[in-house]
Amino acid sequence: MSRIGIFGGTFNPIHNGHLKLAAYCRDSLNLDSVILIPDYTPPHKSGSELVSGDDRLEMCRLAAAGLDGLTVSDIELRRGGTSYTFETLSSLKELYPGDELFLIMGADMFLTLPSWKNPDIIFEKASIIAVPRDGDDNRVLLDYYEETLKNMGARAFALEKPVMQVSSTFVRSNICNRELVSEYLPGAVYDHIAKKGLYGFRDYAAIIRGLMGDYRYIHSVNVAREAVELARLYGSDTGKAYIAGMIHDITKEIPKDEQLQIIADGGIILDDVQKNAPKLWHSISGSVYIRRELGITDEDMINAVRYHTTGRAGMSLLEKIIYIADFTAEGRSYNGVEIMRERSRQSLEAAMLFSCQFFLQELSKKELAIHPDQLGLYNELVMKG
Ligand SMILES: [Fe+2]
Ligand SMILES: [Fe+2]
Repeated sequence: MSRIGIFGGTFNPIHNGHLKLAAYCRDSLNLDSVILIPDYTPPHKSGSELVSGDDRLEMCRLAAAGLDGLTVSDIELRRGGTSYTFETLSSLKELYPGDELFLIMGADMFLTLPSWKNPDIIFEKASIIAVPRDGDDNRVLLDYYEETLKNMGARAFALEKPVMQVSSTFVRSNICNRELVSEYLPGAVYDHIAKKGLYGFRDYAAIIRGLMGDYRYIHSVNVAREAVELARLYGSDTGKAYIAGMIHDITKEIPKDEQLQIIADGGIILDDVQKNAPKLWHSISGSVYIRRELGITDEDMINAVRYHTTGRAGMSLLEKIIYIADFTAEGRSYNGVEIMRERSRQSLEAAMLFSCQFFLQELSKKELAIHPDQLGLYNELVMKG
């Protein structure tokens, strides 16, 4: 008689948190194997970002390959229709009549079990194993539900140790950032996602690489990295911060006359200050380029590129992050960079004020025009402060 763990889920995509959970259950319950079962239509989740069953199955197979006691079943995908656990367990019980089944789930699912279809059949076919997602904060509740399920006739256990906290949502929304996400995904799974372009994956490093020299490429990667750090610190979308950081200087090395053409084609008419300040052109042409050539439609990302040189009054959180990351990224070495970095960790506004003061002084010393957007940002900062 074998002891078999059953671990179902959307696996959209499967990540290291799932694998750790499976291994932890295998070891602590002395299971001979754990079967990963990607579901067909998840009854508890709506799947707007759900990739095909074939892809989710393939990613599970890639993740399980070479891992001890971990296998994958397409039983729910083959059956089609809504994936009910009681049906899956009934089929597995026919396949493994003499074996003992353990149904593994996250603690959040454990709490909803009594409302699943035919809980009696589930309880009859398998023991229920709940794994806490983090800390002990749900312990009292877990114990209560464990007791409730036992009273309903189930063999139910809540395990003690919390497992690695990873969210599929986080993985999906940061999928373009290999450096960040590869910590949470097996390499073969990441490669599959990249190859198939799942979850909106795009290789931004390759895209900008062809448009700029080494110096600016390294700068762009550094700005992206810094933007992600600031986004984490200030609670902004790290996926968007990464992409906007990577592409903020995308047109900077395109010849000036071509940039003017891109701006004109984008229907933007330069004002007098902009006409006399070629340094400002790349942010304007960049905002047109990413919409037209890369098909980016997110207005916040487009504005983050558009206003990264001058800033403006009423900037969004993402706009501020890209504006500042451009100044504080690794590799920057101007006079005052350390103060700027320090302020950026205290408040975005404090950092922006410092940069405005610096720029307004420089421009006036050189008797250069100041763009109204830059003054608008400065005025907003000093009047709010
Ligand atoms: Fe720039
Ligand atoms: Fe830059």
